[in-house]
Amino acid sequence: MISPVFILFSAFLCHVASAGRTCPMPEDLPFAVVVPLKSSYDPGEQIVYSCKPGYVSRGGMRRFTCPLTGMWPINTLRCVPRVCPFAGILENGVVRYTTFEYPNTISFTCNPGFYLNGSSSAKCTEEGRWSPDIPVCARVTCSPPPVPKFALLQDYKPSIGNNSFYQDTVVFKCLPFFAMFGNDTVMCTDLGNWTRLPECREVKCPFPSRPDNGFVNYPAKPVLLYKDRATFGCHDSYKLEGPEEVECTKMGNWSGLPSCKASCKISVNKATVLYQGKKVKIQEKFKNGMMHGEKVHFFCKNKEKTCSYTVEARCVDGTFEIPKCFKERNSLLFWKTDASDMTPCSNSSESQN
Ligand SMILES: *[C@@H]1O[C@H](CO)[C@@H](O)[C@H](O)[C@H]1NC(C)=O
Ligand SMILES: *[C@@H]1O[C@H](CO)[C@@H](O)[C@H](O)[C@H]1NC(C)=O
Ligand SMILES: *[C@@H]1O[C@H](CO)[C@@H](O)[C@H](O)[C@H]1NC(C)=O
Ligand SMILES: *[C@@H]1O[C@H](CO)[C@@H](O)[C@H](O)[C@H]1NC(C)=O
Ligand SMILES: *[C@@H]1O[C@H](CO)[C@@H](O)[C@H](O)[C@H]1NC(C)=O
Repeated sequence: MISPVFILFSAFLCHVASAGRTCPMPEDLPFAVVVPLKSSYDPGEQIVYSCKPGYVSRGGMRRFTCPLTGMWPINTLRCVPRVCPFAGILENGVVRYTTFEYPNTISFTCNPGFYLNGSSSAKCTEEGRWSPDIPVCARVTCSPPPVPKFALLQDYKPSIGNNSFYQDTVVFKCLPFFAMFGNDTVMCTDLGNWTRLPECREVKCPFPSRPDNGFVNYPAKPVLLYKDRATFGCHDSYKLEGPEEVECTKMGNWSGLPSCKASCKISVNKATVLYQGKKVKIQEKFKNGMMHGEKVHFFCKNKEKTCSYTVEARCVDGTFEIPKCFKERNSLLFWKTDASDMTPCSNSSESQN
């Protein structure tokens, strides 16, 4: 619908235009559009600047009329990007951004133990809103852990309701006589599941064998299981070497297997020896033999220096070797001094020859 007044006015403008100069194509403003856009305008013709979507105008005029001079007036209009609401802080997370202006995108990450509930990025729209909505960092929770077969929960304190938070731990225990394989402690991961659960397995040990010259005691059960114990002993004059008590290990063997070692007969008739730092008569002290592992020191003579030195002798599973340097005292040569009564050689390095 065109009003007669407008037609009249336009006719007037045409008249004026023919008298003045035409205006050139108007200046290009950042983020603005000009309507109508032509390469030249007659005086009196109007143009309107408007900001592109996502931009708002600041200062200056928006509507201009081509003057008779043919020069567009100075344009102070500026189009600036819309700014979306401040979104620089994400609780329990981090926001990455350059600006909050149209058409920028910002992105979000959550701290360990939190997950993004929502989108990992948002764009500032033409309307100056974030799209999609700003997410939240929600706490990772783990539902109660499954209890492995033959296991018990030893230590379980859910942090919220029945659920656990990231890095909460749960400790399992195996039923008696079941052995644990894996870590007894599981942790709520940042993926909301638990670290690898341990396994509880039945472990059998063979019946422990009786040592020669000894005996073994173990529970009167049809099978021996993990943590069962066995004790060992030896017959008279035998000595146990190794642990007296052993345990069935998770490898299905015993923690040790001791043996019985024989005592030694002393093959000298008379000798004064050092036993636990004291001089004793070997034939009296060890008349019933010497137990495995016991030791004495024999006295030997150093002839050149007329002094004595000592040499160790030890009972090893029934074998007792008399030191070669030892000379048994001949009772007929009673005036001779026994090595045990001689002055000890002072220098130990000379004593062994
Ligand atoms: C995740 O976001 C949705 C929608 O905003 C909400 O309904 C839900 O409760 C949120 N969940 C958590 C765990 O925050
Ligand atoms: C926890 O689990 C028990 C057993 O499944 C259930 O009865 C109880 O309602 C749960 N409590 C919460 C707070 O979810
Ligand atoms: C068992 O797991 C806990 C928690 O995951 C860890 O701290 C610990 O070092 C683990 N122990 C072994 C022996 O691997
Ligand atoms: C936890 O969940 C993740 C992803 O679903 C999976 O890759 C991982 O193997 C799971 N961890 C365990 C111990 O089950
Ligand atoms: C038990 O068996 C394991 C594996 O076979 C072995 O490494 C270990 O030395 C054994 N222990 C004993 C005390 O024999």
